[in-house]
Amino acid sequence: MTPPDATSKETSTSETRDQEATEMSTGGIPSEQPQAPEISEPRATERPGHAVRLKGLNAYYGQLHSIKDVTIEFPAHQATALIGPSGSGKSTVVRCINRMHEEIPGARATGSVMLDDHDVYAPDVDVTSVRRLIGMVFQKPNPFPTMSIFDNVAAGLRLTGTRSDDLRDTVHRSLRSVGLWDEVKDRLNEPGIGLSGGQQQRLCIARTIAIEPEVILMDEPASALDPLSTLKIEELVDELKERYTIVIVTHNMQQAARVADTTAFMLDGELIEHGPTSEIFTNPKDDRTERYVTGKFG
Ligand SMILES: Nc1ncnc2c1ncn2[C@@H]1O[C@H](COP(=O)(O)OP(=O)(O)OP(=O)(O)O)[C@@H](O)[C@H]1O
Ligand SMILES: [Mg+2]
Repeated sequence: MTPPDATSKETSTSETRDQEATEMSTGGIPSEQPQAPEISEPRATERPGHAVRLKGLNAYYGQLHSIKDVTIEFPAHQATALIGPSGSGKSTVVRCINRMHEEIPGARATGSVMLDDHDVYAPDVDVTSVRRLIGMVFQKPNPFPTMSIFDNVAAGLRLTGTRSDDLRDTVHRSLRSVGLWDEVKDRLNEPGIGLSGGQQQRLCIARTIAIEPEVILMDEPASALDPLSTLKIEELVDELKERYTIVIVTHNMQQAARVADTTAFMLDGELIEHGPTSEIFTNPKDDRTERYVTGKFG
């Protein structure tokens, strides 16, 4: 799997950008179509990992300075939880990682977002290929309303021109990966929106992993779900991190404690503290983190 189209020239551009905190571009120049994933390959659990690094990230909505100089690394094959009170900037940070932030009118960002050595905001990087490599799962399950269960998972693959046999194999495998296969195997042609909320969320995760991203961003993926579905999503995160780099936004401290290797605490657009999850919850360095994790504010 290749990172976003990037060359050593882009790397040096990004270094300059780091120094100057140059404003990020808001429109990628279309480059080559993304390659179809090598779906006939056996799924290796030891896929090479891909880290995401934010350096001096600032994000704005018009005049509102919502993310303030955030520098953080999301290590490969780990789940990192983003926690913090409502409005602290968690969703904005994840939307900056896959360049969804720039889709909001008046929104812009500065600083750098690197996927390994590749600058996600380099001028000749195609935004579509960034979003293929950095998938996103939202709070509210959002299956394509007019599509069947099968087609929901196949949608992204079809865009890459995958052959129909491979397509079927990948759809089935993705549904198995999210533990949905037994529940849907006899109704693949029925509408995706006919599933329960928890099933729909797993369908959306299957859709995301079908195109083999490198990174999965999850913005409160279980907050609209019942406890059993939540548990399934958490188990899934635990499995998926063997193959993907995961960033998960959550308001649920127990969830962060259960699924995340490291946890980052945000407050008012700033990253206050990032460390091993057990440390953040039991022995945080910053007073504000301590007050948040002990429920004293937020
Ligand atoms: N589309 C938008 N237009 C203008 N301001 C926005 C927009 N989205 C978010 N903001 C503002 O940016 C700041 C960060 O919001 P963000 O949604 O990232 O917070 P959050 O930590 O995800 O909150 P929550 O836990 O409630 O989801 C807030 O002040 C919010 O009001
Ligand atoms: Mg949010």
